[in-house]
Amino acid sequence: MAAKRGKIDVELAEFEEKEQEALAGQAVIMTEEMLAEATIEDLPGVGPATAEKLREAGFEELLAVAVMSPSDLADQAELGEAVASKIINAAKKMANIGGFLSGSALLDRRREVMKLTSKVISIDELLGGGFETQALVEVYGEFGSGKTQIGHQLAVNCTMPVEEGGLDGDVFYIDTEDTFRPERITQMARGHGLDPEKVLERIHVARAYNTAHQMLLAEEIKRMSKGLKVKMIIVDSLTSHFRAEYIGRGMLANRQQKLNRHLKDLKQLADINNALVLVTNQVHSKPDAMWGDPTKPVGGHVLAHASTFRLYLRKAKGGRRIARLVDSPNLPDGECVYQVTEEGLRD
Ligand code: GTP
Ligand code: MG
Repeated sequence: MAAKRGKIDVELAEFEEKEQEALAGQAVIMTEEMLAEATIEDLPGVGPATAEKLREAGFEELLAVAVMSPSDLADQAELGEAVASKIINAAKKMANIGGFLSGSALLDRRREVMKLTSKVISIDELLGGGFETQALVEVYGEFGSGKTQIGHQLAVNCTMPVEEGGLDGDVFYIDTEDTFRPERITQMARGHGLDPEKVLERIHVARAYNTAHQMLLAEEIKRMSKGLKVKMIIVDSLTSHFRAEYIGRGMLANRQQKLNRHLKDLKQLADINNALVLVTNQVHSKPDAMWGDPTKPVGGHVLAHASTFRLYLRKAKGGRRIARLVDSPNLPDGECVYQVTEEGLRD
């Protein structure tokens, strides 16, 4: 224990020394342009070794560092917590996210928002033009309601050129129920006249075996996305492992805490990459259970709060599907009808 403390103190002392040197050498305040191009090496006190550690852990950009908590950054980049805390504060200052943003700066950020088409007119209209980036969309409904089909379809569409309503981007797909089917992607790609091989190359799939694995995979995306243009992250299903592992009231607080952490990681990926995060979720299945409305999504307030958009799916007569937009921040609630066909989702 004492030895560990000693090591941390040395690490902190070294950091502060470098930090002082850097601050002393920094005669001029950085201009806007300099700040825009600043990298993690420009942080006072971060030398090549620390920068290497940060890069190894997937922290390429100031913003990625700035939004971390000290304990998480310390963990992931193998730094002392005191050093991690100093690095985060410096990154916050440089990335200018420590304080308030002006309305116009916010508007600039909103201007970067892109919209991914579902290629189903009624769904796109319901969402005011498509699925927004920088957002977390929750798709919930009973089994067989078509959640996984939406995930597959949007993964395909994400790879399409921007002019055609796609995001020209790579997709990370975390599959917790072993329901990802490349054959289905092939069908849907053909349905839009795309080359299935090319589409499949841009969809990166990992099977998650339990909640810890699922959370780790989300963290790994940062590291694995080098050289890729990550525009969509899908977690299908977000909640199934959480439900299975944390059973009963006594486990609820713990479950919600873990889920919250996982959602924060996902939202961070959406913000940093200007990407869309899509998660699927079940509804409570037993109407007679002690708690849980059968038409309410699992995950409670934590998930409701984290989602920017929530879509409730259900089956209707004649193989049709209904999607309902629930609690949107800036769009009216409403419903739309569509179909799941051999070629994918259609009006
Ligand atoms: P759970 O994961 O079990 O909760 O269900 P889900 O909401 O993910 O359902 P999913 O998206 O897997 O929907 C399955 C339904 O999609 C099937 O019952 C079919 O109606 C439809 N579907 C899937 N593949 C095809 C296909 O190739 N052709 C057609 N026409 N429909 C399909
Ligand atoms: Mg499914």
